[in-house]
Amino acid sequence: MKNLKKSFQSSPKYSIKWSNYFEIYENLFKRFEKKKITLVEVGIGNGGSLFMWRNYFGNRAKVIGVELNPEAKKLEKNGFKIFIGDQSNPNFWKKFYKKVGKIDILIDDGGHTNLQQITTLMESINNIKPGGMIVIEDTHTSFMKNKGFKNPSKFSFINFTSSIIEILHRRNPMINKKLNYLSKIINSIEYFDSITVFNFAKKKLTESRNIENNKNLRVYFDDFRFHKTNMSSYPKKTNFFLDLIKKKISKRSYLYRFYENILIKNYLKEIKK
Ligand SMILES: C[S@@+](CC[C@H](N)C(=O)[O-])C[C@H]1O[C@@H](n2cnc3c(N)ncnc32)[C@H](O)[C@@H]1O
Repeated sequence: MKNLKKSFQSSPKYSIKWSNYFEIYENLFKRFEKKKITLVEVGIGNGGSLFMWRNYFGNRAKVIGVELNPEAKKLEKNGFKIFIGDQSNPNFWKKFYKKVGKIDILIDDGGHTNLQQITTLMESINNIKPGGMIVIEDTHTSFMKNKGFKNPSKFSFINFTSSIIEILHRRNPMINKKLNYLSKIINSIEYFDSITVFNFAKKKLTESRNIENNKNLRVYFDDFRFHKTNMSSYPKKTNFFLDLIKKKISKRSYLYRFYENILIKNYLKEIKK
C-alpha cells in the first residue's frame, strides 16, 4: 500500500485532516489492499481528500463524494462521481444507495453534528458490503459545547454508539436477549481519538458458544469468586462500614455491593481528572 500522508501531501487540492488520522487509516485499510473497492466520502470541501483516497487505493477504487455544496459537482470532471445532498436527510440516503448499491468503505467528514453523524451511520448500516466499514471522523464534537455542537448531551453521537455496544454483546447467550439486525452484521466498534469505526462482519454473525478443550480432563474446581471474604486487608478509607465489619462477608451481599460501588466511583473520579 502507498503512504497515506504522502498521498495527502501530493493531492492537487486543499485538504485538512487531524495529524493522528494517517496512522489510524493505514492500519484500518490494510485489509482492503489489492481489492476493488467502492469508497464514499461525505463532506468533500475542495476535493483534496478525494484525490488522496484515489492516489492511496489506486485506480481499482471507485471514489464517490457526497456534499451539500452544489459547487462540488465540478469535481466530476476529475473522474469522481459526486452526489449533492444533505447527509442528515434519510431520504437523500435512500435514493443514494438505490443508485450506488452496496459499498465497502464510508468515511464521514461532513458537518459533524449529532444528527448528521447518526443519520449517516444508520442510513448506511444496511448498505455496507460484508467485511466493509463505516468511519465517522471528528467525533470529538460529541464533547464540544461551542461551535453549535451543544454537547455533551444524551443525544451525542458517542452516546448513541454506546447503545450499540450492548447490541453486539447480545451474541453472548448469557445475556439472554434476542439478536437484532445489528447484532448480526457489526463485528466490532473501534474508538480512537476523534474517529469511530464500525467493522462489518464477513459473514452473518450468530450466537457465540463456549468451547472446551480436553473434555476428558474436565474437573470440578471450586470457584472462589463468591466465597465469603475477610475484608480486613481491603482499603478502608472509602468505607466507614468496613471498620464495623470484623466478620467475613459474602461477595453477593448488599453490603459488599455497596462497598464495590464506592471503589468503582473512586476509579471513575480518577479517570475523569
Ligand atoms: C471539513 S470539510 C471536508 C473536507 C474534506 N473531507 C477534506 O479532507 O479535504 C466538511 C464539508 O462537509 C460539508 N457538509 C456540511 N454539512 C453537510 C451536510 N449536512 N451534508 C453534506 N455535506 C455537508 C461542507 O459543505 C464541507 O464541504
